[in-house]
Amino acid sequence: MPVPVHYSEKALRTHDQPITYFMQQAIENPDLISLAAGLVDPWSLPAEEVRGAFAQILSEPERAYAALQYGTTKGYAPLRQKLLDRLCKLDGIADPADISLTPLDVVVTTGSQQLLYLVSELLLDPGDLVITEAPAYFVYQGTLDSMGARTLSVPMDENGMQTDLLEELLDRLEHTGEIGKLRLIYVCDYFQNPTGLNLSLERRQHLLELVKRYSRDHRILILEDSAYRELRYAGEDIPSIKSLDKTNEFVILAMTFSKPCAPGLKTGYGFLPHELVGPLLRLKGNHDFGSNNLTQHLLDHLLETGAYDSHVEQLRKVYRKKLDALLEALENEFGGSDIQWTHPDGGLYVWVTFPPGLETGPDSPLMKAALEEGVLYVPGQFCYVDDENGVRTNEARLSFGVVPLEQIGEAVRRLAKAVEACTGRIAKATSQSTARC
Ligand SMILES: Cc1ncc(COP(=O)(O)O)c(C=O)c1O
Repeated sequence: MPVPVHYSEKALRTHDQPITYFMQQAIENPDLISLAAGLVDPWSLPAEEVRGAFAQILSEPERAYAALQYGTTKGYAPLRQKLLDRLCKLDGIADPADISLTPLDVVVTTGSQQLLYLVSELLLDPGDLVITEAPAYFVYQGTLDSMGARTLSVPMDENGMQTDLLEELLDRLEHTGEIGKLRLIYVCDYFQNPTGLNLSLERRQHLLELVKRYSRDHRILILEDSAYRELRYAGEDIPSIKSLDKTNEFVILAMTFSKPCAPGLKTGYGFLPHELVGPLLRLKGNHDFGSNNLTQHLLDHLLETGAYDSHVEQLRKVYRKKLDALLEALENEFGGSDIQWTHPDGGLYVWVTFPPGLETGPDSPLMKAALEEGVLYVPGQFCYVDDENGVRTNEARLSFGVVPLEQIGEAVRRLAKAVEACTGRIAKATSQSTARC
């Protein structure tokens, strides 16, 4: 018997992501249509644009040497400047000083996941409290568990986290004294993973007002995850919470090139309250003392030439069609029944709510039937923490990112067959029932 290894407490708190099993299923069974994978559309990845940009960068010796050298921990300065300009443009801010930001408050990271991790490492000790949406992005939940944080959740409706319920929770935490342990409120506020829903402007304002009000002895920060902001296919953009925080004190904004450009570049970025930047960079120094420098030069070039913007514009058209196809297929199969789903204007996800009792979990009859039919979804229960709100077990996340347009209808037909196999029939309600979650 080999001598046992002593693992750190953090390693022991860190578990496999629940989705790993589903990714594996899809790889092992090529006939399966996976509405589970959170991957992007492979056919529209910007291969040509990236090839051209690399060729250009590498054809200029000085530029090539700079790009192939180590960069800085904070990230390539021209890129950080462009990212700030871009945020201001998105938010209709004339001058970054109006929201107290400079390029020194921008940090480039190895995907936005690294920023989420670093922020958690920066702010959380075991036993600290974090508030998330219910349901929430389950990968970040894994990070919080790994840190030993305790998560409390606030239910969502079609306008995102219900901030009146958040206010009640904060009030209770203040009464019990636990507010002293509350460090972060995490929201995925554009086309949320997993529901596809946005946090409304009114609620953004309320959320910011609440963290200001309850930050009495220490600052409670909002971690705003806007990974899907640029994937809007209809409707008006909403200002970021970051842009509402004029003094740049309460909001950490995480964004990424993974969804609007290419996840293989694994480049994200954050906008932080100034005093957090130094401590966060010290931690990042321990991780990698700087993200991939060549990729940052590439992205800077794509932004400079306008190739990035043209790509995002094209991508929106591709996804618009896929989203429409998914919503149409759901309407065809489940319209008028007691099955409900969200109607997002962007992002990669639709959230389906089955009638109570129709369980969607990994060991449920529905999952078994879905696998037999050859379709995969993410069980909604992975997106909940087991707190006083409880874990809902009759929901599912469907993603259309990686599924070819022409297979989306078939995927939903398979799901409908699986539902019929479990329930005998799809219960049609008397009135049209397509309410949002
Ligand atoms: C809500 C959300 N945040 C962050 C990420 C992390 O992405 P990346 O590290 O590739 O930027 C993802 C990836 O799926 C996501 O869905």
